[in-house]
Amino acid sequence: MEMAASTIQSPRGIKKPSETMESDLSRLGNNLVTKLHVLMKISQIYDSKNVALHQFIQESLQTINALIKKEGGLSLKIVKNDLFLNEHRLRYSVEGFTSFKYLLTQWKKRLIGEVVFKEPMDETTLREFVYALMSLEEGREENASVFTEHLANLSILSIEVNPLEVFEGEEEGMTLHKEDHREVAKKVFFETIGTIEEVITHIKGKQHADVRKLKRLAQKAVHLVMEDESILLGMTTIKNYDEYTFNHSVNVSIYSLAMGRRLGFSRKTLTELGIAALLHDIGKSKIPKETLNKPTSFDEGEWGLMKKHPLLGVEILLNLIQLGEINPRIVIGIFDHHLRRDFAGYPKLFRKKEVSLFGRIIQIADSYDAMTTPKNYKRTPYTPEQALAI
Ligand SMILES: [Fe+2]
Ligand SMILES: [Fe+2]
Repeated sequence: MEMAASTIQSPRGIKKPSETMESDLSRLGNNLVTKLHVLMKISQIYDSKNVALHQFIQESLQTINALIKKEGGLSLKIVKNDLFLNEHRLRYSVEGFTSFKYLLTQWKKRLIGEVVFKEPMDETTLREFVYALMSLEEGREENASVFTEHLANLSILSIEVNPLEVFEGEEEGMTLHKEDHREVAKKVFFETIGTIEEVITHIKGKQHADVRKLKRLAQKAVHLVMEDESILLGMTTIKNYDEYTFNHSVNVSIYSLAMGRRLGFSRKTLTELGIAALLHDIGKSKIPKETLNKPTSFDEGEWGLMKKHPLLGVEILLNLIQLGEINPRIVIGIFDHHLRRDFAGYPKLFRKKEVSLFGRIIQIADSYDAMTTPKNYKRTPYTPEQALAI
């Protein structure tokens, strides 16, 4: 590998292209990724000598060789979750997304981080390259050198392969596959339910509640939602009726995080939103169980008490605030979570105020979860579609 790098000129260091050239490059880059995607897929189905591939390989060669000639060489490199084409980050098109995902996943699995094509290729070279790549053992550290050696044995010296660079804090996410994600998600889900239960018990017993633990779990949930929100969202269909409040809190937090992610919140803001959502009904811990679990409708006095839970929540939070994990945004979100834009909700205010964004998000998540969960005093819950429509 070292020898190859020193004998052949690096394709990099080309002058910065104009904007039109850049969009041209991006178009060709997208085309290249799509072609490689199909080739990698094909290699899993047909053997390398199959004649049926001839046409497609020829088409792919046109794209690849056009790029190699245009740029004087071609480097395709993974940096974290992005693909770089000769130092330019490739922006993928909507149609290109699947191909990007596939290429990234397959290369990462095999710990291949960069491929440099130094000269235009012929059909045999491209075939050998794709088949050798896909037959690499997943997760083997030496893959890049094994690959290079294999190509050298076939006297292919125009392709350089480099190992995947691992960036700080990325190791964990890299080796996780879908199934592992599901396991982690399940663990975080139930761990969070347990921790909320703990926090509530401690608050009732006037003990020190461990908000830091809750924050750590919220961070894990944020990480999971960023990776693949569908897995965590799937958890919300686990309905445990006996422990409605705990389950409900975690569900509201997952829905809120999914919304916050779509709104482009930073990880820090998402974590705060997650904590606010986890604790949104914490005020209910001050309401007697008999009232909370009453199977029939509330009388006026009971309703009055129920409507106090946002304020009771704020009171509890203010006692926890010195721990440093709680900030005003979290407190306000909890205060606002039943407050309507037309002030029809509660608590009743003396002066008009904007409902905070956290409050509005939690409110939507809260209503959705309540509507889709069967409760003893309601016959059938709404379907997710009905609830969304409302
Ligand atoms: Fe509430
Ligand atoms: Fe709630």
